Amino acid sequence: MSSISIIGLGNMAGALAARALAGGNTVEIIGRDLARAEKVAATLGRGATAGTFGATPSGDLVALAVPYASAVPIVTQYGDALAGKVVIDMTNTSTADATGLVTPDGTSGAQEIAKAAPASAHVVKAFNTVFGHVLARGGSLDVLLAGDDARAKQGVSALAESMGLRPLDAGGLELARWMEGAGVLMISLARHGVGDFDFSLGVNPSA
Ligand SMILES: NC(=O)c1ccc[n+]([C@@H]2O[C@H](COP(=O)([O-])OP(=O)(O)OC[C@H]3O[C@@H](n4cnc5c(N)ncnc54)[C@H](OP(=O)(O)O)[C@@H]3O)[C@@H](O)[C@H]2O)c1
Repeated sequence: MSSISIIGLGNMAGALAARALAGGNTVEIIGRDLARAEKVAATLGRGATAGTFGATPSGDLVALAVPYASAVPIVTQYGDALAGKVVIDMTNTSTADATGLVTPDGTSGAQEIAKAAPASAHVVKAFNTVFGHVLARGGSLDVLLAGDDARAKQGVSALAESMGLRPLDAGGLELARWMEGAGVLMISLARHGVGDFDFSLGVNPSA
């Protein structure tokens, strides 16, 4: 069982929280509006709690379920409150027209978040290639993850498995840029060939 704090009160936060709770994990919900976070936690039930924004999160895992533009400022504001934590970065860094990334070549949202985090925190890119409503619907999905710390990746993998998902290690944190690229690809596929957002990205063994 894992303990996870989720910063954000939106779609991804709700989907991740519900599935993490169903998987027997401990969940803390953190929003900039504590009263709203308390409401979300009460609605989720199963012992979910609400945490104060900016205070040390109770979870060993801390998920950033906020837009990328807010993620680095939030991590900077948290500072040492994230010491020793596994920070799950699920942000997508797509441009608004879904043709590229907002981060410059040679880096990624996850790497910029890692630069802002305390040295003892470990950033793992994960869940950005899963649509929130698809995650909420249930069922098994592939969860790609990337990070530089094997134990941190193990922790995120264990969380994903408890949620009935299949974690797939994509490599070190430098792979986050390509996972973020996969996020762009998914949005563009939804707008073009697939025609809707009701699909997931997965890896199938060859026959
Ligand atoms: N939706 C998807 O299918 C999907 C899939 C993969 C990855 N993602 C990524 O997951 C992240 C969250 O997406 P979402 O769809 O859940 O977005 P969302 O529904 O718009 O929720 C975003 C949440 O972030 C909070 N937030 C924004 N700026 C903040 C700040 N400075 N301090 C504290 N909280 C802040 C918002 O708080 P308020 O409620 O107070 O405004 C809101 O609760 C994004 O990075 C997105 O790219 C989304």
